[in-house]
Amino acid sequence: MAKEKVDLLIKNAHELATPSSVGDRYDPKGLVIISDGAISVDEGRIVAVGKTSAIEQHFKSETVIDASGRLVTPGFVDAHTHVIFAGTREEEFESRLQGLSYMDILAKGGGILKTVRETRKASKEQLIETARKTLDIMLKYGTTTVEVKSGYGLTTEDEVKCLEAAQELDREHPIDIVTTFLGAHAVPPEYEGETDGYVSLITEEMIPKIAKGRLAEFCDVFCENGVFNIEQSRRILKTGKEFSLKPKIHADELSSLGGAELAASIRATSADHLLFASNRGLKAMIKENVVPVLLPLASFSLMTGKYADARGIIRMGGRTALGTDFNPSCWSESMQMAIAFACRKLRLTQTEAIVAATIGAACAVGRSRDVGSLEKGKRADIVIFNIPNHMFLGYKFGVNLVYKVLKNGEVVVDCQEE
Ligand code: NIG
Ligand code: FE
Repeated sequence: MAKEKVDLLIKNAHELATPSSVGDRYDPKGLVIISDGAISVDEGRIVAVGKTSAIEQHFKSETVIDASGRLVTPGFVDAHTHVIFAGTREEEFESRLQGLSYMDILAKGGGILKTVRETRKASKEQLIETARKTLDIMLKYGTTTVEVKSGYGLTTEDEVKCLEAAQELDREHPIDIVTTFLGAHAVPPEYEGETDGYVSLITEEMIPKIAKGRLAEFCDVFCENGVFNIEQSRRILKTGKEFSLKPKIHADELSSLGGAELAASIRATSADHLLFASNRGLKAMIKENVVPVLLPLASFSLMTGKYADARGIIRMGGRTALGTDFNPSCWSESMQMAIAFACRKLRLTQTEAIVAATIGAACAVGRSRDVGSLEKGKRADIVIFNIPNHMFLGYKFGVNLVYKVLKNGEVVVDCQEE
């Protein structure tokens, strides 16, 4: 039988590990493990996955990558980030080490509001230049799709600037970017004491403009005591939905406000953080198919010792997703680090954490039909690691384990052996 010629073969992988999915359904506890695995790729898409002997029987290619001794997985999907901003906040980290809380700092005009002042001053080009470096690091650590929120502009013009920056990066950078409008990230100083007035600006001006310009797929809210309450959050997410922006929500991160319940009642795509979510709220979310996005690095950075109840969520039948929550107060680009913390602090197994970092996160950003697993027809977004099997992910941490990253079948990161 004549062999089919394809653009690329990856073969001899010590272990190939991937979730298997049908649409947005998959087993949150299961990876398909193929020893001596191989993948054939053509025109940027996966053609077949299987044992090296079987793949070699059917396919040939002039380009072959030998993955002997190594682990092959889908590219990571980072389900929650705030990549577009100017400036840094190392002095805030020092204040937090001295005992000030995240919300005290925000109430004093620091935190998010400091980043807002700096982001407003920056041009779109400056924001792109800074974010490009962040994306370069994410890609080197194995992330091939990332959700990016606005939220440091907080005027119509500055929010548009941030989302346009994200979209330009999507076009120029190998990483695929999914954009989320987060005008409701904080109440800007010009609306201090007039949160409802700012909510009206969001619903009457920002959302219509962002939807018309197709600048975002999702609409998000920081639903929190002292920021946006449940009713204000509902108003924003409902208006977003009317304009075809799918709802996401920063829910119950610092207090138990009922964000998880709101996510369920509005049928959000995801509810993120969930440190203080009630069992009732989590159950309602899971029933409505809302994806819980877990961000253990954000908990680690907050230093309150509080983490989401991931085991409870899994027991209730929830499909978890992981993200870095990369932002100026949680500065890590690495999904490998998120996995290491998910294992230690959320008590996910390596398998659960890898599923959450791939197909789970793809579901949370509405991309599960295209990425998140190594399956026929999906994008050839593939990571080859300098480790022999999936149990090393999470186990060996704090260094980059990546050997090569492929995006749409092209090698975009090529690291030498450590
Ligand atoms: O996901 N909590 C709100 N938003 C971000 C933090 C943003 C910031 O501190 O700049 C979060 O944790
Ligand atoms: Fe966030």
